[in-house]
Amino acid sequence: MAGRVCPPWVGYFLINPLRKLLENPDKILGRFVREGMNVLEPGCGMGYFTLPMARMVGPQGRVVALDVQAKMLSVLGRRAEKAGLLNRIDLRRIKANRLEIEDLSGEVDFAAALHVVHEVPDQAAFFTDIRKALKPGGKLLIVEPKGHVSQDQFEQTVVTAEKVGFKPEDLPGKTGDRETLLTKT
Ligand SMILES: C[S@@+](CC[C@H](N)C(=O)[O-])C[C@H]1O[C@@H](n2cnc3c(N)ncnc32)[C@H](O)[C@@H]1O
Repeated sequence: MAGRVCPPWVGYFLINPLRKLLENPDKILGRFVREGMNVLEPGCGMGYFTLPMARMVGPQGRVVALDVQAKMLSVLGRRAEKAGLLNRIDLRRIKANRLEIEDLSGEVDFAAALHVVHEVPDQAAFFTDIRKALKPGGKLLIVEPKGHVSQDQFEQTVVTAEKVGFKPEDLPGKTGDRETLLTKT
């Protein structure tokens, strides 16, 4: 069910501060991200969620931000530099079918796939790569956009993640019905 990759003009739209009225990064991610954590964010776009997570992990933490599009990463890099957060963010351009994060094996505390899974051509491979990068018991939060992803498609995504070794968890303060928290089993 992979959809078209979000074009850069939509990327600019997604960093509009008004988005906070509908999706507040502190509310969505503040439940999971702590100081000193290693966070993985595939499909970071221009960093609507990346910069708040970089603040949450503090100077000892790190956010590894992955995207298939150079334009998304260059805008995110400029925004991070302006905010004084670039040294906490590891920007990486990847290919659509593999995350290329073998170097992170077993090191990631928390992964966040936010509005990206519906664009991924091979979800099983995507979740397998994330699972390998997570520490034992590490968590993955998936949030998908209601406008692009039906409830059935979302449930299929969760089944795919379960098949590669994730277990759904209760989600405290659930912010939407296309949202799930999974733990590495
Ligand atoms: C709809 S945007 C969401 C961006 C950001 N997560 C947000 O919510 O503002 C989806 C992003 O995922 C990226 N993307 C698409 N397919 C991908 C893949 N297979 N692996 C990693 N990133 C991907 C796109 O280039 C785009 O930047």
